[in-house]
Amino acid sequence: MNSMEKNKKIFAPTDEAISRAAEIIKNGGLVAFPTETVYGLGANALDETAVKKIFEAKGRPADNPLILHVTNKFEASSYAVLNNTAESLMERFWPGPLTIVLYSLLNVPLCARGGLDTVALRSPKNPIALRLIEMSGIPLAAPSANRSGRPSPTTALEVWDDLGTSVDMILDGGSTEIGVESTVIDATNGKVSILRPGGVTREILETITKVVPDEGANSRRSPGTRHRHYAPSVEIRLWECEERTFFQNAEKWCYVGIRIPPDGSMKNIIFDTPRDYARGLFSALRELEGCGASVIIADLPDGAGLGEAIRNRLLHAAGRV
Ligand code: TXA
Ligand code: MG
Repeated sequence: MNSMEKNKKIFAPTDEAISRAAEIIKNGGLVAFPTETVYGLGANALDETAVKKIFEAKGRPADNPLILHVTNKFEASSYAVLNNTAESLMERFWPGPLTIVLYSLLNVPLCARGGLDTVALRSPKNPIALRLIEMSGIPLAAPSANRSGRPSPTTALEVWDDLGTSVDMILDGGSTEIGVESTVIDATNGKVSILRPGGVTREILETITKVVPDEGANSRRSPGTRHRHYAPSVEIRLWECEERTFFQNAEKWCYVGIRIPPDGSMKNIIFDTPRDYARGLFSALRELEGCGASVIIADLPDGAGLGEAIRNRLLHAAGRV
């Protein structure tokens, strides 16, 4: 598609644009919008036909459930069975990058929850996202706004690259702040386990609640973790050890990470802190896949803080999960 058409779909998030976006949502269309984590591809969660358009646009397997985006816990209670643990987590972390899986009420279409008896809920912190949900007056089902299997988009242009033809409108809120997706937790029975590490770190969650291991139910409970994910179109290799000889066997490589690699790279993207690495990782993968190298070497951080989410995304991207 040419840039004329791009200009007709990407809009600055003025009140007028957000209100148009809300109309599109109410009429069963698809709107991509920024959240504090990554861009989401939103539709009316209560409209089956609209929800199915999301799966089609992304090429997403039907058994991979969506997150319902709401403005607060009172709204959440219209779609899921809350418990004390879930409520205190909502009070502490909402709006913010925490997605909570709970037993679903029957008004949530089965296709939005991938046929499960549970539903994932999150209240995003980005004011554009909140305003869009508010103005639509309905919960937004929204996965990350990438083609299925690709790195999540952190800018409006990256959404355009993946979904430009199938989305009705893209609200441009600039680069997203956190860069990796929300933490998904299971709290159905009042015990908390992490299904996907993300923007709220395990350490911070543990200041509020005990986190129990997922006991291997992960892939069954969170179907999204089964599929190949976050992968650019060239091979990814992970640099985990201290050994710099690791780089010697690679031909035409480029690099992303915090540690400084040896000479010989076609292109380096270096970040100062894990926070910056998380924020820039997905964009870096998209940029590096086009630089002409045949291998992207990525620095695998340890699992502390946001490092856990970065590791998770890199292991998926390298096909190691
Ligand atoms: O930060 C985010 O979470 C972004 C923004 C747009 O909110 N959204 C996002 O959505 O990453 P998505 O669809 O790309 O990832 C949602 C994850 C998937 O791994 C999915 O399997 C899991 O949440 N999930 C959704 N509903 C679930 C449920 N009922 N039970 C278990 N896992 C669920
Ligand atoms: Mg996704």
